[in-house]
Amino acid sequence: MKTIKELSVGETTDIFLLIKHAECKVGSTNKKYIDLVLCDQTGEMNAKIWDHTPEAEQMYQANVLIKARGVVKEWNGQPQLNIDKLRVAVEADGCKIENFVPSAPFESAFMYEEIVSFANRIRNTDIQTIVMRLLLDNKEKLMYYPAAQKNHHSIRGGWLYHIYTMLRSGEKLCEIYTFLNTDLVFAGVILHDMAKLEEMNANALGIVSEYSIEGQLLGHIIQGINMVDRIGRDIKADKEVILLLQHLILSHHYKGEWGSPKVPMIPEAELLHHLDVIDANMFDFKKAMESTDVNQMSEKIWTLQRKVYRTDLN
Ligand SMILES: [Fe+2]
Ligand SMILES: [Fe+2]
Repeated sequence: MKTIKELSVGETTDIFLLIKHAECKVGSTNKKYIDLVLCDQTGEMNAKIWDHTPEAEQMYQANVLIKARGVVKEWNGQPQLNIDKLRVAVEADGCKIENFVPSAPFESAFMYEEIVSFANRIRNTDIQTIVMRLLLDNKEKLMYYPAAQKNHHSIRGGWLYHIYTMLRSGEKLCEIYTFLNTDLVFAGVILHDMAKLEEMNANALGIVSEYSIEGQLLGHIIQGINMVDRIGRDIKADKEVILLLQHLILSHHYKGEWGSPKVPMIPEAELLHHLDVIDANMFDFKKAMESTDVNQMSEKIWTLQRKVYRTDLN
């Protein structure tokens, strides 16, 4: 199947596209139609559904994958698809969402299983039970959730990718700093951003539409502490375990002005913060490198608060 970039004017094509924007408009003859901006990873094109029905308006909304057949025309110098046939794409079509929206470089199912195997290495049964409960209870959302709305890992599967990468770097650092408690490091990594699933509302494409009311009023740190409190009490976990897990979550932003009311007071919490920053910054550096020409400075990267340089040195 072709991509937008490969289309030429005049050809009839079958194509899978993602609806980026859908808007109901009224034409010059006072007839309603649906104006669509369609996209794939190679570009965007406009299309219109002239046969407006309430069902069509309901069905063809932003972030829906469609299969369309039509003739490619040019309008105002831009390609436009004159749709003959249209339907919502189904799984049996074999088209993958990953090809339409920025996604993590690993399959979600793989990353989830890897994270579960880290959780299985936690020896303290209370810690393991709390971590496993949250991973299982939230499995459906974890498969597609990003780790942020705009900042680092704001991609489909970004939450899993962020946690999976942090677990691997945390594991390596625990080999060096052998006095660290790996149960707390692994649990801290898995739990620190768990409440982002409640803080933000995201769809199956990994796109955040908004912050929830609770997310705006409390934020993922306090929401995370509540999560641990709820499950900890439920399983009658050791009080020290609940306290330490809450401290890991509470202090992971490090400073009051960055959202943490307390600084890390156990070494595992100190490490957790740095693992978080390393992973966020490496993600942003890599992304900046990909959109910067060699031997050039990038635009200012807002999250890094600086321009970055891409060398051609191998
Ligand atoms: Fe956070
Ligand atoms: Fe994080």
